[in-house]
Amino acid sequence: MVKTSAPGKCILFGEHAVVYGQPALACSINQRMTVEIEKEETFDSWRLDGRTFKPKKHPHIEYIRKHLPPLDDQPLHIRIRGTIPKASGLGSSAALSVALCGALQQIREESIDLLQVSSISHHAEAEAQGGRASPMDTATSSFGGFVVLSDTIEENLDFIETRTMEVNGQTRQWHLHTFDANIPEGVSLVVGNTGVHGSTSAMVNQVANLIRENPERKIELETIGAIARRGIQSLQEGDMEAVGQAMSENHMVLRSLGVSSPEIERLIRAAAPSSLGVKLTGAGGGGCMIALTRNPEQTVGAIEMEGGRAFITHFNEEGLRIEHII
Ligand code: PMV
Repeated sequence: MVKTSAPGKCILFGEHAVVYGQPALACSINQRMTVEIEKEETFDSWRLDGRTFKPKKHPHIEYIRKHLPPLDDQPLHIRIRGTIPKASGLGSSAALSVALCGALQQIREESIDLLQVSSISHHAEAEAQGGRASPMDTATSSFGGFVVLSDTIEENLDFIETRTMEVNGQTRQWHLHTFDANIPEGVSLVVGNTGVHGSTSAMVNQVANLIRENPERKIELETIGAIARRGIQSLQEGDMEAVGQAMSENHMVLRSLGVSSPEIERLIRAAAPSSLGVKLTGAGGGGCMIALTRNPEQTVGAIEMEGGRAFITHFNEEGLRIEHII
């Protein structure tokens, strides 16, 4: 039996603009998905949580199964557990793919290869989402901590790799980096969940239509890119006031792009007075918001008073981890 786990993520800067090549920063959160794999002794087909595995229902699991098959071809039983809420922009599906890749590498008696995990799980997510997915979720879940995506190799960050992917006949390219952030004591991140499911593809399409009909509004995406660069630099310098300011500015541009929602705005308004900065995180249209705060309990209380569900997450949550091998 092999048990692995991988964290979810939130986006601190750059969602939507990253689709157009602008820089973005994501960070792992302390909610994780756990995958347990056992060799199937009694059935001759793979099983998922006690039922026969249906490849069409779980295309990302099928992709990973094909790319990391057990060496003896013996069917396996996969059990999935986790605390990351689904369809809320926190990367639950990416974390599941990453944990599964890690577990299958162990079943194959290979050591954990994070570059391979990050790549296979990215392609699996893209397959499940009709070809479109940035490597942000899967890289953050694999490596943990902070991950920066950029259109150039950033000199002052730790370069991981360059990822390319064919999307609708075009080659897309991302440069992935990580870095050790300088977070002073007493600063936390609070995640507030509206409980409303947001559709990433619907929101990405909505922004695409807006830009197609109003090409001059591309400047808003460039503005997000400039804010993200400034925010990343402030984080490296440990200037949390400036990081918070940049987050709130990023949110204002996202709101003007039309990807916020009344529920997100309500939680943002509630969290703002006790926070250094507040913004939606992920695709928007529902899902989650985040607050950078020195008063996490107060911020959580304010979000819950408005009907949201909130939790405090620390920074630098470990990426893919082996929990147990028998
Ligand atoms: O909602 P999420 O966590 O899937 O984040 C989507 C982030 C976008 O920038 C909107 C899309 C993307 O592929 O990066």
